[in-house]
This record gives sequence, structure tokens and C-alpha cells, in this order.
Amino acid sequence: MARDLTQLEVLTELEPCAETALNRHLSMVKEWHPHDYVPWDEGRNFAALGGIDWEPEQSRLSEVAKAALITNLLTEDNLPSYHREISANFSRDGAWGCWVGRWTAEEARHSIVLRDYLVVTRGVDPVALENDRVAHMSHGFVAPMEQANAAGDGGFLYSVAYVSFQELATRISHRNTAAVCLDPIADRMLQRIAADENLHMIFYRDMCGAALDLVPDQAIEAIDLIVRNFRMPGTGMPNFRRNGVLMAKHGIYDLRQHLEEVLQPVIRQWNIFGRTDFGARGERARERLRAFLDDLEQVRIPRFEEQRDRALAREAGRGGGSGPQ
Ligand SMILES: [Fe+2]
Ligand SMILES: [Fe+2]
Repeated sequence: MARDLTQLEVLTELEPCAETALNRHLSMVKEWHPHDYVPWDEGRNFAALGGIDWEPEQSRLSEVAKAALITNLLTEDNLPSYHREISANFSRDGAWGCWVGRWTAEEARHSIVLRDYLVVTRGVDPVALENDRVAHMSHGFVAPMEQANAAGDGGFLYSVAYVSFQELATRISHRNTAAVCLDPIADRMLQRIAADENLHMIFYRDMCGAALDLVPDQAIEAIDLIVRNFRMPGTGMPNFRRNGVLMAKHGIYDLRQHLEEVLQPVIRQWNIFGRTDFGARGERARERLRAFLDDLEQVRIPRFEEQRDRALAREAGRGGGSGPQ
């Protein structure tokens, strides 16, 4: 049996694909500027400069919209930590290095525009937001234990599988957040960010697809492990559980969306269940993945939806639950 390729060998083999995907990305990406998406005329000074500090009544956003925007922004804020992870697992040379730099610059734009919007419109408490940013960035992004253990020093396949799903997950989350903000300015900003996330997803998905063709067994083992242990990058941020529950309950990001709008489209694109190039190891990983997806669809999602519907009915019975929705 052929030996596994090392991380360096995989990166070297895939470099021409990375170059093609990078050039396609650069030809498709649309230049935009955060300042064009922020209603500056709504801005006014805070107390330190003679104005008034934030009060909850100043926000027009529902609790759900606030939770979603804060979660999405803190996720974007944690960029240095993702950059460290990706640059450690991708090459810094050639097309890989160009991509990592470009991707980092584009992601930074997302936190710039989201923070400017929230501070200028007084959508959330800027002091709490800043404290949460410091707490979240100090904690950093921690890969799930299983992923870190399995990846060893060959983390490229795990990283590229993870970001293929994660970029699509953030796209869905930004897009659905737009729907609950009830503000055309927020809508325009979040659709703009979501379009970037889609292009990022395409780059990583195509790289992971090329890795599947190059080293099918190694790649499917990484994909299977990532899918079974997937955590949103915000895991560990202040109030992540509370905000995650609110977002799941109100259709911004829930288990069914995770399966149907994130996992399934990417897995279909890679033709995971139609491939004939896996060896015994690959077949075992594919079967584990199939069993996981079946359990999600047939057991975990129906159970979650039943609990959610009961909770929403209870809230409706009490007359509204967690404030304006
Ligand atoms: Fe982003
Ligand atoms: Fe992205």
C-alpha cells in the first residue's frame, strides 16, 4: 500500500490548483469599503467627549438580532487566532502565502464594518462589546481536541476541511442575521459580508476537493473527523451558549440549517458518497460519516425541533418571551 503523503508533499502537489483558485478569486471578488455601509449621520459622541453613554433604549434591535450580530462580530474579531491556525498549516510561499494574506485582509473588513455599524447606530452596549472582544481574543480559537490529536503536525487537511464548512456556516449566519435586523442598512452590509464568505468557501472547498482527488483516504479521514466534531468558531466566547440558543431558536443557525445548507451541499460537491477511489481506510471513514449524518437527520434534528417548538409555544403562552423579535 502506498504511504501517506506528508503535509509538505500535499501542499506542493496542490500548489498549481491553489494558484488557479486564487486567480479566480481575485477576478471575482468585488472591491468594497466599510465606510460606505455605515450610517454616519446617526452617530454622536459618548460621555467622554461630552455626549451621553449607551442606554438600552437607544437600540432598535431585537434581542435575537443583538445576539446574532454580537456573535458574528466576535467571531470576525478572532481573526488573528484563525490566521495563526491557517498560516501554520498552509505554506507561506507562492499561491498559498498570497491566499492567506489576501483572505486575512478580507476577513478584517468584516469586523471593521460590523463594529462601526453597531457603535454608530448604538445597536449594542459598546463597553460590553469591547470587554467581550478582549475576553474572546484572549481565549483564542481552540480546535476541538479530537481534531488537534488527529492532525498532529499534518494539519492542512483538517484545516481546509474545517474552513470549507465554517465559511459556509458564517455565510448562512450573516445572511439570516440580515433578516432579523429589520434595517435595510444592516441588510445591505450583511449581504455584502455573506457574499465574501461565499467566495472564501469556494476557495477552500475546491482545495479540499483537490486534496480528495490527490489523497482520497487521508482527505476523507480528515473530513469525517471534522464533520463529527464541528464547532462554530465562536465556541468559548462570552454568552456563546445563550446567544447560540437564541440564534438556533429563531432560525439564524440551527441544526437543520447546519445539515441541509452547510454539510450536505459541500459533501455533495465533493461527491463523497459516489466516489470509487477510496481504499479500506477511506471506506471506513465514509461509513462513519454516513452514520453520523443519518443520526443527525433522523434523531438529533427532530429532537431539537420538538424541544424548540415546545419552548417557543411556552414563550408565546407567556406573551412574548425574550422581548421584541
Ligand atoms: Fe468573515
Ligand atoms: Fe470568510
